[in-house]
Amino acid sequence: MALWKPEYVDKILFREKDIEQRIKRATAWIHKKYRNRPDKPIMIGILKGAIPFYGKLIMNLRIDCQFDFVTLSSFRGGLEAIGSPRLVTRLLNDVKGRDVIIIEDVVDTARTISKLYKYLKSHKPKSLATVALVDKHEMRMVPYKVDYACFKIKGNPFLIGYGLDVKEIARNLPYVATFKKEYLNKL
Ligand code: IMP
Ligand code: MG
Repeated sequence: MALWKPEYVDKILFREKDIEQRIKRATAWIHKKYRNRPDKPIMIGILKGAIPFYGKLIMNLRIDCQFDFVTLSSFRGGLEAIGSPRLVTRLLNDVKGRDVIIIEDVVDTARTISKLYKYLKSHKPKSLATVALVDKHEMRMVPYKVDYACFKIKGNPFLIGYGLDVKEIARNLPYVATFKKEYLNKL
């Protein structure tokens, strides 16, 4: 199949095959860390951006786990998050005393994910780790440790694809790319 590259896509940074390779390594990290624990970990995906990453990751997993999702809203209308992030959806599983793994598409300023982290921490999990597809580690506004990142990126390029959106589109691009900012008002 020909590569789908809409006009607003700038540079393709990570292709599907490379992403899948990195996700396999993330799975190996999860196996090593959790395989011999007595309880099944709970994988908490952050909607909607984590969907493709989460899907690929869990299909590579060879341990039993439970699945859950939250929606965190940072009211991102353009390229910047506006306002204070909110936890929109409550969890179905009780995280008390459990090994919990947060699955996120990208950790940027960490304002959004740190809200979830504090919320989960207050429910007393046995352990709490974060696995992200992309870590923009230079962009933190609040301190946050990503335990495993498939890709670490310098600076703040605006990324789209593999779950990452601009104005709710481009999540289904089968790669991670930079966005041509001049298209922002044309979408
Ligand atoms: P934060 O700045 O770490 O709080 O990120 C807030 C949310 O913005 C993340 O969960 C992502 O969904 C989104 N985000 C951050 N950087 C990008 C990007 O480069 N492209 C698309 N979404 C992003
Ligand atoms: Mg997100």
